[in-house]
Amino acid sequence: MNVIDTTLRGETRARIQGRGLSKKYVTKNGITHALNDVSIDIHPGEMVVLLGPSGCGKTTLLRSIAGLEQPQDGEISINGDIVYSAARRHWVPPELRGVSMVFQSYALWPHMSVIENISFPLRSRRVEKARAHKRAGEVMEAVGLSGMGDRLPSQLSGGQQQRVALARAIAAESHVVLFDEPLSNVDAKVRDQIRREIVSLQRQLGFAGLYVTHDQLEAGALADTLVVMDHGKVVQIGPPSKVYDAPNNRYVANFMGPSNETKGKVVEAKDLVTANTPWGVVSGTLRSGKVSAGDMVEVMLRPESCRLSREPVDRPNAWQCTIERQTFMGAFVELQLDVAGPEGAFQLFALAPKYSFSEGESAWIKVAPQAMWVFA
Ligand SMILES: Nc1ncnc2c1ncn2[C@@H]1O[C@H](COP(=O)(O)OP(=O)(O)O)[C@@H](O)[C@H]1O
Ligand SMILES: [Mg+2]
Repeated sequence: MNVIDTTLRGETRARIQGRGLSKKYVTKNGITHALNDVSIDIHPGEMVVLLGPSGCGKTTLLRSIAGLEQPQDGEISINGDIVYSAARRHWVPPELRGVSMVFQSYALWPHMSVIENISFPLRSRRVEKARAHKRAGEVMEAVGLSGMGDRLPSQLSGGQQQRVALARAIAAESHVVLFDEPLSNVDAKVRDQIRREIVSLQRQLGFAGLYVTHDQLEAGALADTLVVMDHGKVVQIGPPSKVYDAPNNRYVANFMGPSNETKGKVVEAKDLVTANTPWGVVSGTLRSGKVSAGDMVEVMLRPESCRLSREPVDRPNAWQCTIERQTFMGAFVELQLDVAGPEGAFQLFALAPKYSFSEGESAWIKVAPQAMWVFA
């Protein structure tokens, strides 16, 4: 079982706890394991981000917690109360779970004003109008909607409508706010803005959140804890920088960022693994599994781990290369390198902070063994 324990803030008990959740869909095309024995913890005040490609089960997990989907196996508790248990045949409907959701489609009431939309969850819990509107007004100010209370959703831009949905979720004072790719429909600039606002609101108000995205940068910017999923399973959990720098497997490494990749055969496996590859003999760090001499392995290298210099460098993991092409990427430059390997030329991608080489120029690459990842 994948038990996720992320005790980031010294809390001993998670506010949301899912254990052994499984859900399969049977269609005429066969069986899909949307969730395959997934466990998850969300601690008070923690932002957990579910990351993975389309179809890996993120929405199914989110909707299972919300009560909009019923798994076939496992248990979910919210704030200590069991809201779903397969073993006990127990099921609490969504409206009694105390969760709020922000969807990709804003899902606002078109005939209600902004302030009515935002106060709606409080009003339906019988909070009196004056108090509900006061709370809504405070949250509107926090999300940059001051003065827009009387407008209808149709009189707002997409970004503003998503702010209303966000305000509604926060104003409700739920145990957890669930976000399902809420920024996919807003344009890039507004997306970055709202993303930053979500982070600052969450720090300021301290609500617990579960945020679903397929975008690795968005995930990294928002998450206290990242949960990477693949085909209905959790494959890695940790702070974003840890997942990026120490991926458990090739899938996670590739999903978190671009890599140079090759295959090789192990020559020697000690503290470092020496392998024979089309790049020549490399010395790397084993990141998953166990290997011994003769085993086939995958070798990966992030572009930013290629150190470039004009002086020859010492082996291992050192090559002479030609700068084939440079691409301007804003804050950095991507270099396409033609490398002279012992078995012929190959290509690598590298990153540099500035234009310090010219195309056609010759250089040397050096890679630290810690940055040369070996996967069994
Ligand atoms: N109602 C359904 N009927 C059949 N298959 C479904 C249904 N809902 C989701 N699935 C399948 O379950 C898998 C997970 O879906 P989903 O949780 O929506 O993934 P994600 O949100 O990560 O894109 C996908 O393969 C999807 O096609
Ligand atoms: Mg989805």
